[in-house]
Amino acid sequence: MRVAIVCASRSGNTERLAERARAALGDALVNDVEAADVVLLGSWCDKGGLAEELAPALPELSGKRVFVFGTCGFGGSQDYYDRVLDRYQAALPDGAEVIGRFMCQGQMPPSVRERYVAMAERDPERFTPMIENYDRALGHPDGADLAAFEAALRAAGVLG
Ligand SMILES: Cc1cc2nc3c(=O)[nH]c(=O)nc-3n(C[C@H](O)[C@H](O)[C@H](O)COP(=O)(O)O)c2cc1C
Repeated sequence: MRVAIVCASRSGNTERLAERARAALGDALVNDVEAADVVLLGSWCDKGGLAEELAPALPELSGKRVFVFGTCGFGGSQDYYDRVLDRYQAALPDGAEVIGRFMCQGQMPPSVRERYVAMAERDPERFTPMIENYDRALGHPDGADLAAFEAALRAAGVLG
């Protein structure tokens, strides 16, 4: 099986997942999407959906088996991850077959916490939970996230 990876990552979180996939794939990895049987499509979560910079890469996923994955800032809820993944999936062209999905939390830059702290002074009920979420996200994706991602790839039959 030939597997290509298409990934958009701004601050490196989603790229860490892609790196893990590259290491696990070894010789199955190919650079050319056209030559691939399976494409791993990774994205940071941009306003609840797939990163816009991936738009030019999407048409060639038609006819491919696709594993969608990513990282997002809000964690702790599989329902939320599923909603984001549904949005990713909805961006795929007709004829792309989703064979697996994975989402985990990814840490955010310190400027985000500073903004939450300032806003919590005016609206603590709303922003204190967001500060707590920010703090929980630090260090993610961590080793357990990477192992869970590799297990999801294996369960989807992407890794031998
Ligand atoms: C402009 C912008 C919009 C974002 N929108 C969301 C969002 O709607 N939901 C969410 O959970 N995280 C959101 N995030 C957080 C990122 O998706 C998250 O930190 C992700 O792990 C970044 O991945 P990367 O390091 O691969 O770029 C947003 C981040 C930025 C910069």
